[in-house]
Amino acid sequence: MMRTINEMYDFKGKVILISGAAGAIGSEASRFLGSLGANVVLGDLNEEGVKRIADEITKETGNEALGLKIDATDEKQIELMITKTIEKFGKISAVINNVGWGANTPLWGSDSQKMIDSYKLNTLGAYNLTRLAMPYLVKEKNAAVLFSGSAVGNTPSPEFIEYSTAKAGLLNMSRSMAVASGPEVRFNSLIIGMVDNGDSTLEAGYTPEMIDNVVKQIVLGRRGLPEDIANAMAFLLSEAASWITGIELTVNGGGVYKSKMPSSE
Ligand SMILES: NC(=O)c1ccc[n+]([C@@H]2O[C@H](COP(=O)([O-])OP(=O)(O)OC[C@H]3O[C@@H](n4cnc5c(N)ncnc54)[C@H](O)[C@@H]3O)[C@@H](O)[C@H]2O)c1
Repeated sequence: MMRTINEMYDFKGKVILISGAAGAIGSEASRFLGSLGANVVLGDLNEEGVKRIADEITKETGNEALGLKIDATDEKQIELMITKTIEKFGKISAVINNVGWGANTPLWGSDSQKMIDSYKLNTLGAYNLTRLAMPYLVKEKNAAVLFSGSAVGNTPSPEFIEYSTAKAGLLNMSRSMAVASGPEVRFNSLIIGMVDNGDSTLEAGYTPEMIDNVVKQIVLGRRGLPEDIANAMAFLLSEAASWITGIELTVNGGGVYKSKMPSSE
C-alpha cells in the first residue's frame, strides 16, 4: 500500500539525540523534529539555552523534550547524555552529531594544542556519542546517525586548518561507520554551506563585509537559514531516506561559484 508523506515523516515514538542543540542549526532541527512527533534530547554547553529550548518544544508540540548541559569533548558527560536519555525515554532511535565550531587560523599558524582541541570538538565527540548510542540504535527500525559536515571539510581550506581537517575526518568516519554497520543503522553527513548563525560566524573570524562577499557568489543568492539544514536532516532521518546510507548531502544554496574565465576588469 502506498504510504503518505505524513507517514514517512511521522517521528512519533522516536527518541533523537542532538548535540550543539542550543546553536542555530541544532535548535532548529530539535524544534522541527519535535514538531514531527519525536522526543528530542538536546545536549549543549549552553545550559540555559538547551533547557529553555527543550521546555519550549515540550509546550509547543506536546512531545516531551529534554535539555542537558553536555560538554561534547568530555566522554563522561557524553555517557551521561546516553544514561539520562535511557532513564527518561528507554531508547535511542537517531543521533544528530551537530556540535562543531572552528576559528580562522592560517595553515602555518596553528599548533598541536589547537589541532587537538578542534579534533576533540568536531570529530572525537561525534565518535564517542555515536559509539555509546550504538547498542541502543541497533535495536531500532530505520535507526540513523547524521553528522554536520562543512564545505570546508570537502575542499582545501588553509584558512581554517584545524576545523577543516577535523571536519574532513568526520566525513570519512561517517562513511566507515555506514560500511561497518550497514544493515542495522544508516550513517549520513550533511555538507553545510554558509548558514546564518548570528554572531558565531563573526566570532570565527569573518567580518560582515566578508560574509556579504561570499553571499554575492552563492548560486541561490542568499545565505542559508537554519531551517534549510533542519529540513535536510529530517529527510535523512525519515522513512523516505530508508535506503540512503554512507552519503554526503550537500546543502549549500548551490555553492560559491566563481567564473573560470579570466576577467578583463
Ligand atoms: N553555520 C554555518 O555556516 C555552518 C557551515 C558549515 C558547517 N556548520 C556546522 O554545523 C554545525 C552547527 O553549526 P551552527 O551554525 O548551528 O553553530 P552555532 O555556533 O550556532 O552552534 C554551535 C553550538 O555548539 C555549542 N558548543 C560549542 N562547544 C561545545 C562543547 N564543547 N560541547 C557542547 N556544545 C558545544 C555552542 O554552545 C552552540 O550552541 C556545526 O558542526 C558547524 O561546524 C555550520
